[in-house]
Amino acid sequence: MATEGAKPARAAWSSKWAFILAAAASAIGLGNLWRFPYLAAKYGGGAFLLVYILLVVTFGFTLMMAETALGRKTGQSAIGAFRSFGRKYIFIGVLASAVPFIITPYYALIGGWVTKFMAAYLFEGASAIAADGYFTNFILNNGETYIWMYVFLAVVIVVVALGVKNGIERVNKVLMVALLAIAVGISIFSLTLPGALDGLAYYLIPDFTKFSVEMVVAAMGQMFFSLSLAMGIMITYGSYFRQDEDLEHSVRRIELFDTGIAILAGLMIIPAAVAVQGSAEAVATNAGPGFMFGVLPQVFQGMGFAANAVGFVFFALVFFAALTSCISLFETLVSIVADGAHVSRGLSIAVCSVFVVLIGTLVNMGYNNLLDVDLMYTVFHIGEPGNAQILDFFDFVSNTVLMPIVALLTCIFVGWIIKPQVIIDEVEKSGEFNGQKLFVVMIKYIAPVFVVCILVAYVMNALG
Ligand code: PHE
Repeated sequence: MATEGAKPARAAWSSKWAFILAAAASAIGLGNLWRFPYLAAKYGGGAFLLVYILLVVTFGFTLMMAETALGRKTGQSAIGAFRSFGRKYIFIGVLASAVPFIITPYYALIGGWVTKFMAAYLFEGASAIAADGYFTNFILNNGETYIWMYVFLAVVIVVVALGVKNGIERVNKVLMVALLAIAVGISIFSLTLPGALDGLAYYLIPDFTKFSVEMVVAAMGQMFFSLSLAMGIMITYGSYFRQDEDLEHSVRRIELFDTGIAILAGLMIIPAAVAVQGSAEAVATNAGPGFMFGVLPQVFQGMGFAANAVGFVFFALVFFAALTSCISLFETLVSIVADGAHVSRGLSIAVCSVFVVLIGTLVNMGYNNLLDVDLMYTVFHIGEPGNAQILDFFDFVSNTVLMPIVALLTCIFVGWIIKPQVIIDEVEKSGEFNGQKLFVVMIKYIAPVFVVCILVAYVMNALG
């Protein structure tokens, strides 16, 4: 009996971890390393962190369970999964599928910035990169940013076209462990900088006066982005899930890895930023998409003779994390176009490449030729005119507009149309579903009411 039971258990264990690592490799990317730290810095540090973690273990857990179970049950990606419950639900899948089309181009732009920094540590050296205005000069420059974005995209497209993804993902697992190690090292070093402890307090101790509707909306958008939720991707991942894999256990592990890396990224950057910029207030006002690129070089600069090596290794690891995530984003585009338009994979790759290059170029122009274009203000009347770039607009449309809507529709669909029991049955095919009470209450009542309230409050705020 004992031996009989032990064997399949061991086999299941290894395959479950293979899945978790693959999903984590896709989930861990620029969302954790680039986006989370600047949002946390901007929205009050500890308060943001607290709200973020609460959202991950409640809303994020619920949505990820629903999406992966829907994928495994139907064996299809987003559009097909919703279609299999009736043609009138296709629009939810279509809306979800629109999200990666918006994210991929600007993801590739940031990927290009990372590639540039990796190369700069080899060819220019840590002190040049730590100089004032280095990053600003780079992104405002009329040409260089395009080249780096195209280089990054070329690697993504070649990997997808050659289908060497598996090899890359295997390498990536090793590199993720390396990333973890170097992030711990950098965090410890950051904390030794004079003034860093104030930053640590800012990052870890919630200041309850910092709560705002805008901050909660930002935390919610970040949770979707980082966990790859509300964009159909986890449905596709779920469709690759084996029938005997424990869904709940896997979902919890993915959340743990993804959130752990994000928290660590904040620890590495925020205390150092406060040390460098003098106060948490200064950091909060300045934090934006360039945060990581402005602060970390100054931290590395303080490492003396090790600066070049640490800078290079760090950005090389970020490069790989961004690359694997961008590969899975691009794969998603390719399969949506191939399935939706009934064209070959080759043609689909060509079409998606042109799309991402063109739109990516447009987003990039937002930092030079089109610097004065402020779509955030023109379209939504948000902020002061001239403050936001095209990247901010794209990021806003996906994370603050579309993803909450897709999440809301998914909750209504699962909670009220097909009913939560369908998901519970699917999960229980391969194990227990311990969090099912939370799941049902969240998906039927709390999550949809929360999304509606927070969005209404947000819009009222913006108008008022
Ligand atoms: N979650 C990834 C990140 O945090 C981004 C991503 C989204 C990757 C969707 C793949 C698919 O960077």
